[in-house]
Amino acid sequence: MTTQLGEVWILGATGRIGRAVASRLVADGIAPVLVGRNEERLRAAAADLGADVRVIVAEGVDRTAAEIARRRPAVVVNTIGQYATTAGPVARACLPGGHYLDLANDLTAVRGLLALHDEAAAAGSTLVTGAGFGVLATEAVVAKLCEGRPTPDRVRADALASVSTDDGVVGEPLAASLVDVLTTGGRHYRDGRLVAARLGAEPRELALPDGETVKSATVPSGELFAAQQASGAPQVSVGSAMAPTSPVARALLPLAGRLLSVPMVRRFAVRRLAAARTKAAPRPRRHSWGHAVVTWPDGTTREGWLRAGDGMDYTAAVAAEAAARLARGEGKPGAHTPAAALGPELATAAGGTFLL
Ligand SMILES: NC(=O)c1ccc[n+]([C@@H]2O[C@H](COP(=O)([O-])OP(=O)(O)OC[C@H]3O[C@@H](n4cnc5c(N)ncnc54)[C@H](OP(=O)(O)O)[C@@H]3O)[C@@H](O)[C@H]2O)c1
Repeated sequence: MTTQLGEVWILGATGRIGRAVASRLVADGIAPVLVGRNEERLRAAAADLGADVRVIVAEGVDRTAAEIARRRPAVVVNTIGQYATTAGPVARACLPGGHYLDLANDLTAVRGLLALHDEAAAAGSTLVTGAGFGVLATEAVVAKLCEGRPTPDRVRADALASVSTDDGVVGEPLAASLVDVLTTGGRHYRDGRLVAARLGAEPRELALPDGETVKSATVPSGELFAAQQASGAPQVSVGSAMAPTSPVARALLPLAGRLLSVPMVRRFAVRRLAAARTKAAPRPRRHSWGHAVVTWPDGTTREGWLRAGDGMDYTAAVAAEAAARLARGEGKPGAHTPAAALGPELATAAGGTFLL
C-alpha cells in the first residue's frame, strides 16, 4: 500500500542511484515520480519498478526547475550530478515549502547549497546536501563522537567506501566530479580557516575493525566542511580511500590539477573520462567505513567507525531514507548536511552500524 504523502520526484531517475532510490521508496510504500530527459529510458525504469509510477520528461536543468515551480512536489531528490551548477536552480525552485536533497560531495557544491540556508529557513523548506555515503558516513561519526562534549581541537576523518562496478561507462557526473577534485587542489582546516594543502597529503594505512586494511590520503570534499561544522574543531583533515596514495601519483597531482584548470583541457578530460569503459567487478572490501579520530585540548582522544555495505547501495539507502523523512516533514528548515538536518541516526536508519 502506498502512503499518502506529497510527491517525491527523482531527477536522474534512469541512473544507477536514481533507479535504486526509486526502488527503495516503492518498497517503503512511497510511489516516486521519475523525472529525466529521455522518455523511453524513463518508461523502462518505471516498468522495472513493477509499480504504478508517473514519469515526467524535462530536458535540461532550467526546464526541470520550471516544472518543479509549477507542480510543487513535496520533495525533490537530485541525482543528476554536476551539483555546483545544478543544485542552486533546482533547490530554489522547491521554495517555499518544498524540500530538496542531493548527493553532492565536492566542497564547492556543498558550500554553495548551504549558502541558501537563510532563504530556505524563511521559506519553511529543508535543503539537504551530501545525502549519501559521502557526506553522511563521516559526518555522523564525528557528530556522535562530539555529542555532549566540549569543542575538540583536532579531527581526522576518513571516507572508506567499497563499491562494486557494473559493465558500462564512467559517466559525465562522476567524471566531472573527479576532475573537479584535481583542479581544486587539497584543502584542510588550520586555526579554524579553510586553507590550501597538498592533494593526497597525510597518507595513512588504517586497520579496519573487520581485520582488513585500507590506505587513505586527504582530498577536498564536502565531508571536510561537514566534519568542521559537526565538531567546531579548528584543525580538521579528511581523507578518502579513493585518493591516490602512491608516491609517484601524489607527486604528479599538482601538475595534473594545473593542466585541468585550463577550460578546454578540462572539457576534453571530462569527455574522455566519462566515456571510459568500466568492467563489472565486486567491491574490493567487505564493508564501507566512515572513520574519525577526535582529539580534545587536554589530550583525550576518541575514535569511531560507521560500518556499511556497498558504498553505492548505502548511498541509495541514505537518499531514500532522507527523502521519506523530508516527505513526512521531519527536516529542520534551512540548508544542512544530512546529519545536521535529520540527526546522526539517519546513518543507522539507512542500514549503517556505529562502532564507537
Ligand atoms: N555522495 C555520495 O556518496 C555519492 C555516491 C554515489 C554517487 N554520487 C553522485 O550521485 C550522482 C548520480 O550517480 P549515478 O551513479 O547514479 O550516475 P549515473 O548512473 O551516471 O546517472 C546520472 C543520471 O543523471 C542524468 N543526467 C546526467 N546529466 C544530466 C543533465 N545535464 N540533465 C538531466 N539529467 C542528467 C542521467 O540521465 P540520462 O539517462 O538521460 O543520461 C542519469 O539518469 C553523481 O553525481 C555521483 O557523483 C554521490
